[in-house]
Amino acid sequence: MAASNSKPLPENIPAHVAIIMDGNGRWAKQRGLPRVAGHRAGTENLRRVIEACVEFGIRTLTIYAFSTENWRRPAEEVNGLMTIFEDVIDRELPQLNKNGVQLRHIGKLEGLKPAFAQKVREAIQATSHNSTLILNVAFNYGGRSEIVEAVRRMVAEGLPADSITEEALAAHLYTGGQADPDLIIRTSGEMRVSNFLIWQGAYSEYYVAPAYWPDFDKEQLRLALEEYANRNRRFGGL
Ligand code: IPE
Ligand code: IPE
Ligand code: MG
Repeated sequence: MAASNSKPLPENIPAHVAIIMDGNGRWAKQRGLPRVAGHRAGTENLRRVIEACVEFGIRTLTIYAFSTENWRRPAEEVNGLMTIFEDVIDRELPQLNKNGVQLRHIGKLEGLKPAFAQKVREAIQATSHNSTLILNVAFNYGGRSEIVEAVRRMVAEGLPADSITEEALAAHLYTGGQADPDLIIRTSGEMRVSNFLIWQGAYSEYYVAPAYWPDFDKEQLRLALEEYANRNRRFGGL
């Protein structure tokens, strides 16, 4: 599909883009709205960004939707977020299938309401045949907890110490078998990782967008891709 934007896309589009979708609360505050209204606007924006990724030829998109630390927020906000995500799965499933999006989850399903966890499993199953875009949703995700869980699983499998390699550890992460993100975007101007893909992002390019997540649009994604195309990735070499 040709990009509808008049400006041409750079040639080396990253295969895997990850996004820390930040700034929903501030977006709402700016408009005198409750924080949950920002989360609702954020999930609506997600649909547009997924479509832009498909159009731009990105093959994997990983989005940070809820961290293991976000449970620290007031119950009202946490419950609001859970309700929004449950609604989104129901509402967006046909569109995901239409766009060839294969849904995956990274994080812990334990600790979520059983009915919600079941809904996630069913949505993963219902999109498993799609291959245009892999969408990893990081929900109840924490990078440190992911590494600890991976180590626990290796120990439980009885792996001897000298078999615990970088490759073995990577294979035991939630993202096992997938390539690392090439580009990690954070919206809302914040310059921190907040426990996102701390292993996988070791050599990712970082890009901070000033816009709050609900305002991060296709044009801003294009700007990020343009900057990425001009970066020189050395991976420690020359
Ligand atoms: C990101 O927006 C969404 C989640 C963390 C769930 P925030 O809710 O963090 O919004 P700000 O950063 O407070 O503006
Ligand atoms: C990171 O944003 C988590 C998500 C976007 C889901 P936060 O808003 O939770 O991060 P901090 O607290 O500002 O570091
Ligand atoms: Mg935030």
